[in-house]
Amino acid sequence: MVQKELVTNNMTLTDNASGASVELPVLSGSVGPDVIDVRKLYSSTGKFTFDPGYGVTGSCLSALTYIDGEEGILLHRGYPIEQLAEKSSFLEVAYLLLNGELPTGHEHNEFVDAITHHTMVHEQLSTFFRGFRRDAHPMAILCGVTGALSAFYHDSTDINDPVQRMIASRRLIAKMPTLAAMAYKYSLGQPFNYPKNSLSYAENFLQMCFAVPADDYVADPILSDAMDKILILHADHEQNASTSTVRLAGSSGANPFACIAAGIACLWGPAHGGANEAVLEMLNEIGDKSRIGEYVNKARDKDDPFRLFGFGHRVYKNFDPRAKVMRESCHEVLNKLGINDPLLELAMELEELALRDDYFIEKKLYPNVDFYSGIILKAMGFPTSMFTVLFAVARTVGWISQWKEMIEDPAQRIGRPRQLYTGPVARDYTPISGR
Ligand code: SDX
Repeated sequence: MVQKELVTNNMTLTDNASGASVELPVLSGSVGPDVIDVRKLYSSTGKFTFDPGYGVTGSCLSALTYIDGEEGILLHRGYPIEQLAEKSSFLEVAYLLLNGELPTGHEHNEFVDAITHHTMVHEQLSTFFRGFRRDAHPMAILCGVTGALSAFYHDSTDINDPVQRMIASRRLIAKMPTLAAMAYKYSLGQPFNYPKNSLSYAENFLQMCFAVPADDYVADPILSDAMDKILILHADHEQNASTSTVRLAGSSGANPFACIAAGIACLWGPAHGGANEAVLEMLNEIGDKSRIGEYVNKARDKDDPFRLFGFGHRVYKNFDPRAKVMRESCHEVLNKLGINDPLLELAMELEELALRDDYFIEKKLYPNVDFYSGIILKAMGFPTSMFTVLFAVARTVGWISQWKEMIEDPAQRIGRPRQLYTGPVARDYTPISGR
């Protein structure tokens, strides 16, 4: 059932073959496209809707994030991403997404203190890592270890207990950087670093990644500020593929650790969060400005599966507002660090050429959040294999906030899409002697 006040209109659907009609409610949200409530369509017409990829399907009511793809707008609980990136902090945005309002000073301090004191992981988890090969991709490790958290923290897996839901949410937000850093250190053959409660979320993550026993590490404020901004820009993004994966997993009643592990698995794909790693590999493959045209032509070629990573988006048909902030931050970080990375110049040249290309103009393909993030992360010292891991650290906040919103929705039911069946109709089994 849906709140009656959302119904603002009705639409009539008529079957031209039989002349039968059905009236479907039209629901309006606070902003954005209305939706047609088709839930009684099958009982009224015996027909399903059909929308592979869910490009025009609203899967839920949500109050977390609003995207206007035509105008390049991204709001978290109504606040523009540009303002949050400039004025807020990642943990404050996490509080906002989880609770709906920006925290007061007291609420902020309590939340930061709670997250800070959940950053350590069970000591036996470090032995869990030892089962992986050293050359395992950090996303493979993160996916496995996150799913294993439910074996260590089963005192916060009862999704019907709001206190356990809150504890599990805070554990996931607090421990994801620790697990990500452990995956990185394991791939290097270096010892794990423990979190330090005296540091901010971003500073702590950087020290867990880059400190070594032989040498103290103090994060350059330029890097920790840039890291916090990158985390904000990746925190949540409406019902994207990995968030929808978390919601679908959660709709069965699976515990939050398993749901977040499912989200990590989905994010890994190069069409989604894996794109930031693919952008750097693509820029390295292009190598020189003189070859940009060759790759833009490959991307235009319908017979060539190559796509320009970091470009295009299912929703944004204008600039991804996060890409704009990321590009400015990229210039700022590299200038402050005195790094002259030819890949940045190559990326800017590629962006300029692509935005002039009639194919990209026609298809409305603009740089997305992944186009510039890899260049900053590379400047910070991260290998490309860690880029999607960092995306997962940030998106854990969005995933768990969306999961919480779903679990607290009294109308929530298990997700179960249908299909248009095109296989063989019923037929009898033929013994092998008769085939
Ligand atoms: C993220 O959903 C989210 O919100 C995701 C995300 C988040 O925060 O969660 O924003 C994060 O995943 C960003 C996207 C990162 N992926 C990449 O950069 C990979 C490269 N991009 C493409 O794979 C693609 O653009 C997608 C997957 C992002 C979107 O794919 P769609 O939905 O098929 O794109 P579309 O329908 O808008 O495509 C329109 C046309 C198609 O051609 P036609 O079938 O109409 O002939 O443009 C073509 C596409 O083939 N196209 C591209 C292209 N992206 C789309 N052609 C060349 N290069 C590209 N990058």
